[in-house]
Amino acid sequence: MQKYTFPVTRTTHPKARPTDESTLGFCNYFTDHMFMMDYDEGQGWHDGRVVPNEPIPIDPASCVLHYAQMMFEGMKAYRRPDGQIQIFRPDMNAKRMERTAERMVIPTVPEDILVSGIEAVLKEDADWMPRTSGTSMYIRPFIFGNEISFSALPAKHYTFIILLAPTGSYYGTTSGKLSAARIYVQDKYIRAAKGGTGFAKVGGNYGGAMRASEDAKKYNCKDVLWLDAAEHKYVEEIGTSNAFFRINDEVITAPLDSGTILPGITRDSVIQLLKHWGMKISERKLSIDELLAAAKDGSLKEIFASGTAAVISPIGCLNVKGTDYQVADGQAGEVAMKLYNTLYGIQTGVVEDFMGWTYPLDVYAK
Ligand code: COI
Repeated sequence: MQKYTFPVTRTTHPKARPTDESTLGFCNYFTDHMFMMDYDEGQGWHDGRVVPNEPIPIDPASCVLHYAQMMFEGMKAYRRPDGQIQIFRPDMNAKRMERTAERMVIPTVPEDILVSGIEAVLKEDADWMPRTSGTSMYIRPFIFGNEISFSALPAKHYTFIILLAPTGSYYGTTSGKLSAARIYVQDKYIRAAKGGTGFAKVGGNYGGAMRASEDAKKYNCKDVLWLDAAEHKYVEEIGTSNAFFRINDEVITAPLDSGTILPGITRDSVIQLLKHWGMKISERKLSIDELLAAAKDGSLKEIFASGTAAVISPIGCLNVKGTDYQVADGQAGEVAMKLYNTLYGIQTGVVEDFMGWTYPLDVYAK
């Protein structure tokens, strides 16, 4: 992979570092610097740079604020026991960026610029790397059309930014003590339809989901289990994450072929690990009726969500129109625990990377 170096402008106003890592939550803090790059039609990507992480001027008529031509990625950097910082399967993020960019008519950023940009900003903010078990540095690369125009057409100028945020857990889980969340089975709204943008990482998918997540709180649920848009019959994703269901010894997740499922990098890693362990993993349609029948007769052993932010988040109870369906004993299941410990172990260099997934950077945490 080609390595790029970029000019750095250091902040003159360093922020206060979080002192208690148990309060990190999900991206409550952002580091001192960010990576920025511009794209102009005819010129391509240019002027990559590390600059202070501070508000940027944006014209109120900038097209992204009106037509949402944007895309993003979610990645994490991890501190190895020897202090070296590594990232996880960046080639997969670069490939997904390419697919999202194609769908959104946005020029993609190649993998070597993505990784060099991450490395450059992490070098400046290495002292922000959290060290407590269960933490990591969330990386948010995003691209948006940035042109003064009310024409609903692809922009000619784009901005690419990478932000870093020391982070704890998304759903309030911590290493070794995964807590099981309650999830509402969504029967009114849909997340993605065939031919839409469900497979792409775009802000609209998340903005459009907020009404449903908010309504789920009425049932004391953290988020929703989405059903397919066409029939409201088959389970798809959980909140902002992919979903896995263990019925007896078969682990099931929705197939990618409908184009409505986000091809999660954690999802793919879970599938590969389960195959490596000789477990039965099926990418197949699972109806809500089959799922609830399994919950009733006790063959439903586990449900968990997977994602970069969520890592592996067990689900202890499904709520359907106000009725609870407990998943097994309502606690984190054994497969979810094993996956969490293996994945996070590989990511942090505590478990040998027998899959060849980690990508050590030339950056050392202090
Ligand atoms: C991620 O898991 O990285 C995501 O982008 C989901 C987001 C809602 C935090």
